[in-house]
Amino acid sequence: MKLSSILLLPALLRSGLAYTELSDDTLRTLPRPGPDFDIKNGALLAPILRTRVPGTPGSEAVLDHFIDFFTAELPRWRITFQNSSQVTPVSNGKAVPFKNLIATRDPPWAKNEGDVGRLALVAHYDSKLTPEGFIGATDSAAPCAMLMHAARSIDAALTSKWDAIAAEGVESIDGLDEDAHKGVQILLLDGEEAFHFWTHDDSLYGARSLAEEWEGTMNAAMSTYKTPLHSIDLFVLLDLLGAKQPRIPSYFKTTHWAYKRMASAEHRLRKASLLKSDGKSFFPEAQKGEKDQWLGGYVEDDHVPFMARGVEVLHVIPNPFPSVWHKIEDDGEHLDIPTCEDWAVITTAFAAEWLDLEGHFETKQTKRSIHEDNETWAGEKTELFD
Ligand SMILES: *[C@@H]1O[C@H](CO)[C@@H](O)[C@H](O)[C@H]1NC(C)=O
Ligand SMILES: *[C@@H]1O[C@H](CO)[C@@H](O)[C@H](O)[C@H]1NC(C)=O
Ligand SMILES: [Zn+2]
Repeated sequence: MKLSSILLLPALLRSGLAYTELSDDTLRTLPRPGPDFDIKNGALLAPILRTRVPGTPGSEAVLDHFIDFFTAELPRWRITFQNSSQVTPVSNGKAVPFKNLIATRDPPWAKNEGDVGRLALVAHYDSKLTPEGFIGATDSAAPCAMLMHAARSIDAALTSKWDAIAAEGVESIDGLDEDAHKGVQILLLDGEEAFHFWTHDDSLYGARSLAEEWEGTMNAAMSTYKTPLHSIDLFVLLDLLGAKQPRIPSYFKTTHWAYKRMASAEHRLRKASLLKSDGKSFFPEAQKGEKDQWLGGYVEDDHVPFMARGVEVLHVIPNPFPSVWHKIEDDGEHLDIPTCEDWAVITTAFAAEWLDLEGHFETKQTKRSIHEDNETWAGEKTELFD
């Protein structure tokens, strides 16, 4: 038996994981999307701002945009798809294709996928069939772009962290602590929207198919996690983001710890004047207690089929919804770009802290150290300078 007993007590011991906050120096180095979030020609956002109803050329073009992005900029991420075809109330009995894109980055020593616990960052990329021409900028083009930005912003730091662990000599993978077995996954899901009228059968096409398939896909025997579904330590769903002054409730008691982490990241970024949106915190419920009202279950979204199977969920969706919700006005022009950029940075900081990346970003401090003391740093940090 090769697995250490520590690995057999995984996700429940969440609090046992190291959770180092990013220093202010590190927060200052986190990139903002800047021109990449331009709605007309921004490299990340603009290609998503078009109609992308499942099974249409718009949907294919947006999926190609994601594939091109990961292929060109994040070659260390493994891209896979989970496809299905399902009949909808308006497809006249014909099956419509739904394609979920999964981009995964696991520690290099993870020979068995089933031993990696992951942070899943999730948004849906399809757009609603009606009203005709509906873009769904907050729903959820902008959240997809935010996740692309976050993935790109943590990539080099992940490499640096794993190189540093490897440099210490990974004689026995089993001896590594639990943090060394954490990975990250971006899920860009298809078919969230109803075609006709929201019901359990007419909505969440991609998410339902993925959750079901993953629940039935067994990892290797003796894996820490039974299935890819169990490998999700935390499912963070971004939806309806990009309008001014969002107010995100904490929906679920069991993930209030994660809500507080995200609120804290936002608070520290705001205090350091690193956010551009005016106004109040996006997370007004950080102080909430047991006896307060929890809206869990109130908003149906892509998390539902996962949560029904026991996955822990942080739902980052405002209440109330943006005023443009499901209206033709939910387009690029109605986005508040400073808010979109802030979300991208907050998501980056949250992911970086979950993955314990403090010390692995290229800050001004480390740059200077490398310059003055090349020998000490060169061995550990070479990846940053590739
Ligand atoms: C799923 O869809 C993607 C994107 O179109 C395609 O590249 C892939 O081959 C499909 N996978 C299967 C198993 O059909
Ligand atoms: C560090 O020194 C090596 C040679 O020892 C050199 O090749 C490398 O470019 C230097 N790196 C930096 C960042 O100055
Ligand atoms: Zn919607």
